[in-house]
Amino acid sequence: MSFDLVIRNGRLVDAAGESTGDIGVSERRIAAVGTELGTAAREIDAAGAYVMPGGVDSHVHLGQLSSKGDMTADDFWTGSRSAAFGGTTTVVPFAAQHRGTSIRAVVDDAMERAAAEMTIDYGMHLIVTDWRDPAPTEFATVAAAGLAAAKIYLTYDRLKVAGNQAIELMQAAGAAGLAVMVHAEDDAIVGWGRDARVAAGRLGADSHAHSHSRGAEWSGVAQAIALAEAAGASLYLAHISTPQAIDLVRAARERGVDVVAETCPHYLILDEAAYGDPIETAAPYMCSPPLRGPAERTGLLAQLAAGDIAVVASDHSPYTMDQKLPHGPATAFTEAANGLPGAELRLALLYTAAVAAGPLAMSDFVRLVAANPAQVCGMYPRKGSLQVGADADLVIWDESAWTVRWTDLHDNVGYTPYEGMQLRGRAGMVVARGDVIVDGAAATLRPGRGAFVPRD
Ligand code: URP
Ligand code: ZN
Ligand code: ZN
Repeated sequence: MSFDLVIRNGRLVDAAGESTGDIGVSERRIAAVGTELGTAAREIDAAGAYVMPGGVDSHVHLGQLSSKGDMTADDFWTGSRSAAFGGTTTVVPFAAQHRGTSIRAVVDDAMERAAAEMTIDYGMHLIVTDWRDPAPTEFATVAAAGLAAAKIYLTYDRLKVAGNQAIELMQAAGAAGLAVMVHAEDDAIVGWGRDARVAAGRLGADSHAHSHSRGAEWSGVAQAIALAEAAGASLYLAHISTPQAIDLVRAARERGVDVVAETCPHYLILDEAAYGDPIETAAPYMCSPPLRGPAERTGLLAQLAAGDIAVVASDHSPYTMDQKLPHGPATAFTEAANGLPGAELRLALLYTAAVAAGPLAMSDFVRLVAANPAQVCGMYPRKGSLQVGADADLVIWDESAWTVRWTDLHDNVGYTPYEGMQLRGRAGMVVARGDVIVDGAAATLRPGRGAFVPRD
């Protein structure tokens, strides 16, 4: 048999384990996995290098208006381009409802822009902020279009969905067969901490961390689990920053609740000490939940190795320094745009922290960055696997060390919180549905080449 593409002699690794051999690609899918496969129009020698499924980033904010009115610095084109250079071949951004808008209209608008702009394949989540008519009646048809998950916030005045509305939405999502992603921080604790600091005139970045406390996350996670348990829903907890929250997830799973947890590379690498700096230095590190300390990083790494955390996503939330600091050094912590960019560095950061210098095997790495995110979004094994029949989304992994410079990255943010950091490992070559889209620093990328991947 002759193939369109054969990658030879790789250390083939997916979530199931590792073997040495070739991958043959025909008509954009993996057609054979074995040794000494037949000839191909294009042959690539991967001897000695890991060949893994392309990354699946199940949590990115692209072309999205925040509740404060900030448009993300990356749209679907620049964000998907940046993710591709980092070894991600599928991203899942959000169609975001703002109060008073129709979920049908926000999904249609996001899908139209994504089709025109995405350079890699994509799914779509829906953020629901207003669960009053017509949202409940529109939801079933919107979900049937193949949404990956519905996301709600338990905090933020202009986003939160609470109480009965949250339970009803979770029931509707369960009926439609999709998970509910929750931003789980306790609104009362966050609001109380914020108001106390504002009243005291303490407007620095440390007050952001103070209000988005560890306890706010623990209470938010407990609430989200209780709501999902009541509704019988599948729960996907976004951006967990503390091991104690993961302990709550494990206990819930042990009693049969359908819940998975996500963490992000920034919680494994960066430190809350950044918030001690003046806001103009601290702003790039401000995200919710905030960065934590060494005890949390050690605990989360152990929980990754134990399998208690299902997904490592980027929560790519790209804002420029002008958006971070609308009033320059006089910006209050309540005014700074929240979130860190990270889609392009996601794989390299996790590999550095948890594989090269940590407890994870390469198959764990693939499970966390590709197989499980695909599973949670209803895309597995089409995405996130090396199975015959899967989309030919492949990464040849380069294990060498390198230094991060924002000028070498491909996002639109203008800085990286990881500037100057030495990392181990990066995507050397990226294949997306059979096309070599990245080869070292060179790329063949264009807006509109990505295709929508509906939830199966
Ligand atoms: O700080 C963050 N994570 N901003 C992005 C929006 C969100 O809550 O996921
Ligand atoms: Zn969130
Ligand atoms: Zn997010």
